[in-house]
Amino acid sequence: MGCEGVNMKIESVVLDQWYPVATENMPVAGKAYHTQLLGQPIEYGLDENAAFYAIQCNTRVRLPVFRQHYTYWVSLGNPPALFDIPEFHEAERRVLATVPVCVRASGLRVIENFLDMAHFPFVHEGTLGEMPYTAVKPYRVEIENDELYARDGEFYQPMAAFSHEGGMNIAYIYRVCSPFSALLYKTCPLQPAKKDLVCLFVQPCDEDRSIVHMPMAYLDDSASLEDLRLFRQSILGQDLAILNNQVPRKLPLLSDLEISTGADASSLAYRHWLSEKGVSYGTFQNP
Ligand SMILES: [Fe+2]
Repeated sequence: MGCEGVNMKIESVVLDQWYPVATENMPVAGKAYHTQLLGQPIEYGLDENAAFYAIQCNTRVRLPVFRQHYTYWVSLGNPPALFDIPEFHEAERRVLATVPVCVRASGLRVIENFLDMAHFPFVHEGTLGEMPYTAVKPYRVEIENDELYARDGEFYQPMAAFSHEGGMNIAYIYRVCSPFSALLYKTCPLQPAKKDLVCLFVQPCDEDRSIVHMPMAYLDDSASLEDLRLFRQSILGQDLAILNNQVPRKLPLLSDLEISTGADASSLAYRHWLSEKGVSYGTFQNP
């Protein structure tokens, strides 16, 4: 079966998107890398002029590529303009990324886990949460410009960032820009009036395998970039144990749901939003 035949099965809302294959901290110029995107083998790299390229391996066709938000993007379809993230243009921000992480789960599961605040005291005890502060305060979920927002979130965190020990209430705003891309704005403990930005860009290798790319735009000017990266990398590692054990690996979708005001409001809204968009790739269908 040719690649085009495979692609034909993937709905446009998923096929016609930009997907991350690497963050800017990863590729070495002159070296070819092999990965997978939506079931297709992809080669990518930086050529001798440090220009980013990507090729569909089976056909050797060059793919549309794009460098934005500290990330290298590829598309197998006809993507619209990538969403904007103003914080990456702010000179005061320090931009970095984790090392990418492979997950044995649908990318949609990865996004849903990112939106969930209720797991902080159990999975990230000592940093993003601690007992007995388990309550998730009500927050607002809204659709705006075809994107999903969860606003007014707040969570007590004993160590919200590398450079700040001592508990404080951290405000959370989530923005889901596309089915496999989400942003988190959270209070910067060193500048409480402002928010650090953590991006979660998921590369769907297959329906139930993903690679997580996580660029950040931080305001912290005291810690080294490596310390900031290691802090976030260890939190991501804690999530892996959860994500690799999801059953089923694909995300069950629910439809015709009222948006809840409870702790799981963002998860329900995300599933409903995916369903409304007609996303099927990476979702669990009842046999
Ligand atoms: Fe987590």
